[in-house]
Parts: sequence; C-alpha cells; structure tokens
Amino acid sequence: MVPQEILAEIEANRQRHVQELSEFLRFPSVSTDSSHAEDVRKTAAWVLTKLEKLGFRTRLYETEGHPVVYGHRFSNPALGTLLIYGHYDVQPPDPWDEWITPPFSPTIRDGFIYARGATDNKGQCLTYFQAMEAILAVRGELPVNVKVLVEGEEEIGSPNLGPFLAKHREELETDVIAISDGSQFASGMPAITYGLRGLCYLQVEVEGPRFDLHSGSFGGLVANPIQVLSQMLARLKNNEGTVAIPGFYDDVRTLEPSEREEMARLPLDEAALKRYLGVEQLVGEADYVSMERKTARPTLDVSGIWGGFSGEGAKTIIPARAGAKVSMRLVPDQRGATINESFRSFVHSLTPAGVRTKVSELHGSDPVLIDRDQEAMRVAAAAIEVGFEKSPVFIREGGSIPIVGMFKDTLGCNSILLLGWGSPDDGAHSPNERFSLDDFQRGIRSAAALMYGLAR
Ligand code: BES
Ligand code: ZN
Repeated sequence: MVPQEILAEIEANRQRHVQELSEFLRFPSVSTDSSHAEDVRKTAAWVLTKLEKLGFRTRLYETEGHPVVYGHRFSNPALGTLLIYGHYDVQPPDPWDEWITPPFSPTIRDGFIYARGATDNKGQCLTYFQAMEAILAVRGELPVNVKVLVEGEEEIGSPNLGPFLAKHREELETDVIAISDGSQFASGMPAITYGLRGLCYLQVEVEGPRFDLHSGSFGGLVANPIQVLSQMLARLKNNEGTVAIPGFYDDVRTLEPSEREEMARLPLDEAALKRYLGVEQLVGEADYVSMERKTARPTLDVSGIWGGFSGEGAKTIIPARAGAKVSMRLVPDQRGATINESFRSFVHSLTPAGVRTKVSELHGSDPVLIDRDQEAMRVAAAAIEVGFEKSPVFIREGGSIPIVGMFKDTLGCNSILLLGWGSPDDGAHSPNERFSLDDFQRGIRSAAALMYGLAR
C-alpha cells in the first residue's frame, strides 16, 4: 500500500505540480512540423532535466527524427522493474482562431488547464514524475526499479522507435509497462484499457493534365482529377457505412458474446456525446452499438482533401491534380501491411483512363489486445481505487499508440497497463485541449499507488 505520507506530500505540492505542467506545456513540440524541430529538442531537454532531478541516470538518444529520452533509477535488483512510456510531442494546434487562449500559453479556467498537449500527453506523462518526486521526498527511494522512455514522434506514428527498441532490447527489459496516454471511460469513471485499434494512414494523389486548364477551352476533353478523386473516395464505403475495399473484413476477429454484453452494459451517454460532438445523430455500422463501433470495429475516414481553386470568387479551371489523406483504424487480427495492399489495389482498380493515381503510406500501427487476467491488471485496478476512489471499468480504445504492439513483439512484454487519466472530452487533437487539474492529481496518486502495488 502506498504510505499515507506520500499521498499527503502529493497534496501539499499540488500548486507546484501545476506550475511545472504549465512549464512543460509552453514548448510547441509539434513533431510533424519541421519548423518546430528546435522546440521539440528543447522539450526533450526539459524532460531529461526533470528526470535528472529525480536522480535518474539519463540519456538522450538521437534517432533519424526527434530524440528519445531515456532514464533509469534502480532501487534493488531483487525488486521488479516498471517501464513508464510517454510522449513529449504534440499534434499541430490549428485551427488557431478557435482557441480561446493560445495553445502554447497554458491557462487555467474552471479547474482545467488549457493547452495543446495538456492531456495528450504531457499532463498524463508528468503524473509519474510527480509521483516519484513525492515518493523520493518522503522515502528517499523508489519501491520498484524504474525505467522511463519518453519519445518525440508518437503523433507521427513513432517511425524510429521500432529500430530503437530492437537495438536497446536489453536495456529496456522490464516486468511491467505503464502508459497513461488515453482516457477514463467518462469523467469520474476511471478505466483500464485492454485494446487499441491499429492504423493505416495513406495519401492518394490523382494527376491529370500537366497544368490547370481553362475549363471552357478544354472542358469535355479531359478527366477532372478532383471529380475522379471524389468518385474514388465515395466508393471506399458502402451506403450502410461498411468499408467496400475487397478483403477489408477478412481478418477481423468476431467479438465474443460476453465482450459484446460487457460493452453494452457500459453507460455510454449518447445524448451527452451528441451534444459534445455537435451532431444530431451518431452513424455507423448498423449491427453494432456505439461502443463497439468506436473501439472494436474497423473504420475508414478521409482526413483531408485538396485540389483546384478554393479562393474568393470563381476561377474557371480544370485542376491538374487533387489529393486526399485517408486513415483506417484496424482491429485484431487485421494487419497494416495487408490492408495497405488491399487499399492500394482497390484504388488502382478504380482509376479511370485519363489520370494517374499515386498511393503513399504515411504511417501505421497494428492493433493490440492485452490479456486482462493477470496480476498487473489487479495491481493497476487497486492503484486506480486509491487515486480516483472508484474501481475501474475495462474498455477498449479507438485510438492507436504505435509502440504498444512493438513492446509486445520486440520486448516480449505482455504486462502493458494502459491507464488513461484524462477524460474523453479533454479535446485531444482539437482546439482548446485541456486536462482537469483534479484528474492530474488523481493520476499522480494512482501512479504512486501503482509503484507501491508493483513492489514485491
Ligand atoms: N493519445 C493518443 C492515443 C489514444 C487516443 C489513446 C484515444 C486512447 C484514446 C495518441 O497520442 C494518438 O493520438 N495516437 C495517434 C497515433 C498515430 C499518429 C499513429 C492516433 O491514434 O491517431
Ligand atoms: Zn495524440
């Protein structure tokens, strides 16, 4: 059990923890934007310094992209080891004008801290550091051996982490992995996540004439790339909301009736969800309830589209080219490589005469399921009860964390705890992203309790 003095120490330092979070959030560590490469590096340095202050032996590992921060603090070889993973990079903040206060000027309103990265993932990641700080202040020693891995490329699909894990397999060896990069089932209803969807993210480009043409002089002679692209995109899904790519569902594992019953019992407040999303109706596959559709069924969505003229007024052209970004969320036992191939050949089969199509893979990750029936899960549930004063429900999440599959495959570790301290309405990836300061505090308490629970 986590000693009471440690929980008291966490409480006593609440203000300072928030100040530190605010400092962390000021860095515009947007990994996808090369103009922020220096900011990303400074953020890594901030994390490194924080770990050094906690007595960790640290190292900044260069990769082909953004650096990886690694540190360890060993208490006693006879004790177990916990590896904590988080990411210090963030999504781009745009649309800027929809932020009530600027994304990199953290602001507190009504018990929430607002900033890009507040929940995803700086705030949640920091809970472990603050928990360790409190433990060290009171006891001078951690109850388990701890390794920390914080990367700067999660939001771009962790392209350099696979080779990194393979190279440092021994250094990263661990009994349990904890990741807080998701959310509770609902605010005030903590959860342990045992499943993540995978992701295939592709770009489709359609090229027609060599340059934009006068639509009067040449209309009637050439295929229009925007129209071709729209028709292709429209054919990716059937009217019933299912994906039309041949073979897409071939490897989808059928949900067990017991799991479906469990999901149906989760009190998803659909009315509140519709209000939050600003939509009148939720839509998706007819044979599945919302919770299944958002976590345990695969999907396809167009994330962006471009081409032609969209400025003020009218310009009479036939565009030379058009493009779209398409993301597909995968579930067990779909594999990214197979789905990419099916997508590619379907797009080529839909390509009419008169244009060329190009499909490129941007990034991806495979879906994962984690065994719920293991000691680490029971320890995590008990830790959440300490932090949140409620026992957790078990959920799958619809998002993806690329490293989780790699942890299983490369490190051979199956004790992966996905413990989201955030809330589904924190606005991750959206304008006005936030993190509840109470959840921050509860996360710190839970993280401390987890470390004591794992001590053996
Ligand atoms: N924190 C999310 C993952 C997540 C989202 C977990 C929702 C649970 C619920 C993470 O930072 C993220 O956004 N991942 C990307 C991965 C992608 C870039 C490979 C995602 O899911 O889009
Ligand atoms: Zn994210």
